[in-house]
Amino acid sequence: MTFPLSGLVEAARAAPIVPVLVVDELRHAAPLARALREGGLTIAEVTLRTPAGVAVIEAMKAAEPDLLVGAGTVLTGADVERSLAAGADFLVSPGMSPGLLAALGDNRRLMIPGVATASEAMSRHEEGFDLLKLFPASIAGGVPALKALAAPLPHLKFMPTGGIGANDAGSYLALPNVVAVGGSWIATGEDVAHMNWADISRKSREALAAALV
Ligand code: 3PG
Repeated sequence: MTFPLSGLVEAARAAPIVPVLVVDELRHAAPLARALREGGLTIAEVTLRTPAGVAVIEAMKAAEPDLLVGAGTVLTGADVERSLAAGADFLVSPGMSPGLLAALGDNRRLMIPGVATASEAMSRHEEGFDLLKLFPASIAGGVPALKALAAPLPHLKFMPTGGIGANDAGSYLALPNVVAVGGSWIATGEDVAHMNWADISRKSREALAAALV
């Protein structure tokens, strides 16, 4: 199978930080998208954990068409359908289940599934996934785990997410098998609720500066 998600991998070359967003209010979507672009980011993941999540994806895409906006916390076939109907560029899940795999069908090429072990990574590869989310990254072994996985599984690439922050994003990104890192520290729920747009842009710029050294 050819490498999927090539647009995301390309965008991550310029800006390998993926803010994981939990947005309660639809009115925050457009200014949030602008703040992330202002900070130099090219990719965002909007979790489906709030009722507004799907509409937020659509509104962020409308506000900043150049921003790749994915849906996170995609757990079911219904989540896949409503994410893609909203224009999601990619899908992220904390893991994989037989039901979700069956529901994905051809949309498998848009999914970054979560894995925490070598066996899970091998299973996802057999199913056609080549870009995997190490999750929860800090608990699943972090940087040492990714280094260890690279030796037997050099064909797999990762987007570690979960427990990563400003202080250690750079050490993940220094690894050759890491395409991007995800995390909520760039735009926390509190940042968004308080409309701290300038802070979100600043944290985005700082993360990129640290990532691209
Ligand atoms: C999540 O599930 O919310 C993401 O993995 C982000 O995790 P973080 O809040 O630890 O960055």
